[in-house]
Amino acid sequence: MNPRTSKILKLFSLDASRIQKPSDAMLAQVYLVNDRYILRSRPYEKETPALFAAECELCEQVAGLTGFRFPKYQRSITGDCFSVDADYFWTLHPIIPGRPLGRWFELHKIEPSVNRQVLNTLNKLHKTTTGCFDESIIDRRRLLDLVTPSMADAREFLSAGALERLGVAFDRVKRYCESYPPEKSCFVHGDFHHGNILAQKGRIVGFIDLDWCRVGSFYEDFAFSLMMMLRDYKHWSYEFRWSVYRTMLDYYDFEGDAVLLNDHLILYALFDCAIFKSSCFENANAFFKYQKQFLEAACRAEPA
Ligand SMILES: Nc1ncnc2c1ncn2[C@@H]1O[C@H](COP(=O)(O)OP(=O)(O)O)[C@@H](O)[C@H]1O
Ligand SMILES: [Mg+2]
Repeated sequence: MNPRTSKILKLFSLDASRIQKPSDAMLAQVYLVNDRYILRSRPYEKETPALFAAECELCEQVAGLTGFRFPKYQRSITGDCFSVDADYFWTLHPIIPGRPLGRWFELHKIEPSVNRQVLNTLNKLHKTTTGCFDESIIDRRRLLDLVTPSMADAREFLSAGALERLGVAFDRVKRYCESYPPEKSCFVHGDFHHGNILAQKGRIVGFIDLDWCRVGSFYEDFAFSLMMMLRDYKHWSYEFRWSVYRTMLDYYDFEGDAVLLNDHLILYALFDCAIFKSSCFENANAFFKYQKQFLEAACRAEPA
């Protein structure tokens, strides 16, 4: 066992006899410990403990409102629900009974009935939590902050037409984020795809991977899920898949503004370009190249 991992586990008063890396964990440092716990790290920055505390409080509230299960973090010997080691912020939580519905790079293989279940659940999560939060905790900046650093980078790899469309999308999403009425806000998972959704006996029971959860607008979550489900890693050549797009809107029972949804989709497509560009897992460069094509196609798409 890696001495660093064993040091972290000791801080959680755990002796590990068996440590495995889950097969779908390509991006984060995450370990399955003794077949019972998930040990996971995220980058440690000054604001991480406060963001994490807000995340825990929000998830507890949403668990109460919806009945879904969320990770319950174990205390370390310092009494905190985390442990910091150099640049990493570590958490430990017992496995939630159930299995993820799929892996993010294999979503083209998912049965339509499962996609319907996923998007029905997302809609339910949004509807059940709409208007339930104090205005002071609405995060109107998170998506904009996530993509702002990539806006300048995009000049290196996007066509002029796509850059122009991207600018329009950013401005429109910014205006919307700053102005939607507080009673329209809801819980936003922030990374809602099959790999972060746990199901047991065919029923969705809970969610993991909540680093980006917040209170925001449903467009943010739905656009992200839509982007994940529109990608096709079977063929790796991208054409905007309108039939998939319409089916997903139907599964979610989308009743909003399709142009604004596309604006959000474009911003998330850009965000994932940055993720793949900075990743070092095997084949990350192929994913980055594909994501650029996806972004170009999303910028050309004009939903009716
Ligand atoms: N029942 C479970 N509860 C929690 N995590 C699980 C469960 N089953 C498997 N896992 C795995 O734990 C890992 C948790 O990682 P996650 O929090 O999603 O981080 P990331 O996606 O950033 O690697 C995933 O690889 C997931 O497959
Ligand atoms: Mg995950």
